[in-house]
Amino acid sequence: MNFFLETLRCIVLFVYYLLESLVFLVVPGRKKNVSGEIVLITGAGSGIGRILAIKFASLGATVVLWDINQEGLNCAVRLARENGAGRVHSYICDCSKRQDIYRVADQVKKEVGDVSILINNAGIVIGKRFLDSPDSLLEKTMEVNTMAHFWTYKAFLPAMIAANHGHLVSITSCAGLCGGNQVSDYCASKFAAIGFAESIDMEMRALRKTGVKTTIVCPFAINTGMFDGVKSKWPRLAPVLDPEYVAERIISAVRQNQEVLFIPRIIYAAHFLKSFLPVKATVLLLDYMGAFDMMNTFKGRPKNE
Ligand SMILES: NC(=O)c1ccc[n+]([C@@H]2O[C@H](COP(=O)([O-])OP(=O)(O)OC[C@H]3O[C@@H](n4cnc5c(N)ncnc54)[C@H](O)[C@@H]3O)[C@@H](O)[C@H]2O)c1
Repeated sequence: MNFFLETLRCIVLFVYYLLESLVFLVVPGRKKNVSGEIVLITGAGSGIGRILAIKFASLGATVVLWDINQEGLNCAVRLARENGAGRVHSYICDCSKRQDIYRVADQVKKEVGDVSILINNAGIVIGKRFLDSPDSLLEKTMEVNTMAHFWTYKAFLPAMIAANHGHLVSITSCAGLCGGNQVSDYCASKFAAIGFAESIDMEMRALRKTGVKTTIVCPFAINTGMFDGVKSKWPRLAPVLDPEYVAERIISAVRQNQEVLFIPRIIYAAHFLKSFLPVKATVLLLDYMGAFDMMNTFKGRPKNE
């Protein structure tokens, strides 16, 4: 194609995609049917993962639940069975260990089938200043929040590519868009998870495997217990989010093949501003929003949970 034609094609499609996204803001797109899909959720034993399990089961999907916590997993299985029409399977899997992921993934493929919606949700945080964070815990954060995504993709993506059908859902955080005080491990792991998910999405497009979709989710603080103690400085502007609401937004985004989901919407504006504002101005706004002191009251989950 010559320069003129290719430039014209690019401009026309660019304007079309802008208009399309504006239309979708007003008229939400059709939601795809997930009944019969095999949905694997890591970290399904509590919080967002557990609610996603219940909601996907109620939509008729077969859900495969992974967690390191047996008690939490049992509770999620019971609730998913009570609320859903689909089948519910559960496996203890330590997502910080590559071999454990590969072993349990093989078991899932044999016992349940090929996973068609993979939700990397398991996550941990230290909640301390970098120099006070033990090396072993820093490594653990990267293993659970980032490396587990590599190994689960290695395990389940080949079948999605072969069928040109699937969905990769990455539950990251707005901490993956902007650094923060006392969350260096968490931010590093979430930045990496976003870069990884975006790159695999690019690979799928380059391979013309456009039936394999990606949704990257970046929520602000959610009231699940993971960030227990953390308070928003301006709760009316940026409230700590309700887990039910977040899970519902995630399900809608997946069913509409939405590539990126920031919750609440103000994160879109904040991310845009950060891309061109002087650093001092960005830091001023972050300070105004309470970003420097937010983790001062952090308690997190008790160690034995
Ligand atoms: N809670 C928030 O404020 C918040 C905000 C933004 C993003 N997120 C992200 O949302 C996701 C879900 O968080 P949540 O708030 O529901 O937290 P949660 O603590 O309620 O759930 C996390 C789950 O992951 C499991 N898990 C931890 N380590 C594991 C491992 N090694 N192997 C397998 N499972 C493991 C835990 O047992 C738990 O069931 C996480 O990725 C988190 O980073 C949370």
